[in-house]
Amino acid sequence: MKNIDFNNKKVIIRVDFNVPLNAAHQITDDTRMRAALPTIRKVLDGGGAVILMSHLGRPQKKRKADGTLDLEKFSLKHLVLHLSDLLGRKVTFCNETIGVQAKELAESLHPGDVLLLENTRFEAGEEKGDRELASQMSDLGDIFINDAFGTAHRAHASTTIIADFFQPSRRSFGLLMEAEIKNADKVLHHPDHPLTAIVGGAKVSDKIELLDKLLEMADNLIIGGAMAYTFVKATGGQTGNSLVEADKTQLALELLEKAKAKGVHIYLPEDSIIADNFAPDAQTRTVDSANIPEGWMGLDIGPKAINNFKEVIQQSKTILWNGPMGVFEMEVFANGTKAIAEAVAACTKTGAFSLVGGGDSVAAVNQLGLADEVSYVSTGGGAMLEYLEGKVLPGIKAITD
Ligand code: 3PG
Repeated sequence: MKNIDFNNKKVIIRVDFNVPLNAAHQITDDTRMRAALPTIRKVLDGGGAVILMSHLGRPQKKRKADGTLDLEKFSLKHLVLHLSDLLGRKVTFCNETIGVQAKELAESLHPGDVLLLENTRFEAGEEKGDRELASQMSDLGDIFINDAFGTAHRAHASTTIIADFFQPSRRSFGLLMEAEIKNADKVLHHPDHPLTAIVGGAKVSDKIELLDKLLEMADNLIIGGAMAYTFVKATGGQTGNSLVEADKTQLALELLEKAKAKGVHIYLPEDSIIADNFAPDAQTRTVDSANIPEGWMGLDIGPKAINNFKEVIQQSKTILWNGPMGVFEMEVFANGTKAIAEAVAACTKTGAFSLVGGGDSVAAVNQLGLADEVSYVSTGGGAMLEYLEGKVLPGIKAITD
């Protein structure tokens, strides 16, 4: 961005304002909006006008019973007031993404003005990466900035194809995108060792490529969350009613073998908090993870596991955390995730670099108020996961090619 002159230019910024809204359409977490502010401000301070584009939710997949789009639930109009508060200036909303009104409003912009367009996914061509749609979007501005890291893994019209319509000197990453790439690259390409990866979440199948990649680079791999029980089962443990992917036990064994061959230490939870029901008021007990009785399921890591994991974390110079240790949305099963978040924060304080990336672990550090105590919290869920897996993200490639 630093080489672009924004003065008197109309600048399209693709942001990821895919923020959670409650039933009353109120924003329940504005992290992604706040994360885009530096880029927006930089353009405004440079004398440009800003045209913001984003998707919100998956309106094409969540159509109403009569098959029409839910234009109310997925409208970006719900974000206008808050965005205006955050920026401290008026934000004009256009209730279309392309079209006569969008064109007119874009043309009438003056330096310092901010225009927010309607949800890009209301356009049928967006997710198909339609060239005609991308061309019409590109007609609205002089410069294209992609700051939507969270959507960089989608080859959509507004995230990827649109970049083709701008000369390399008129397209760029935004500051958020730059920060996401820089921080992920630090872990991927030049980490200080020991590098400890903490991977959690429900399913091994969601993380196969990540685990594979981590075995190439990490010194320690901590596995928590329900996915740990597929490993426990694979090695002969009794997992009761815990979530186990029976068709992935062989894969789990192969990953353990590969880790051994590569000298990567794998840490599974020695003990677990088990429950007789998937509910906040379930009866709970603490048992060894390999001895979970029938009728009971592991929903969090236990105290011995917390201590073991903490010891490994404490000795690390680089930490990558993706996925919670238990069902942290329920207070009784949040302890493991909380303890790990605190251990990562404490280790960061002593000089380690820590990256929290991908989905629920990000929600966990935010919820625990520890976001400022780790080195970097990614705004990308699926995008960060794919980036860490070593994939080339189309939204990034479109800018750099
Ligand atoms: C996300 O929330 O991960 C991004 O905004 C991408 O959304 P999508 O998975 O619906 O493409």
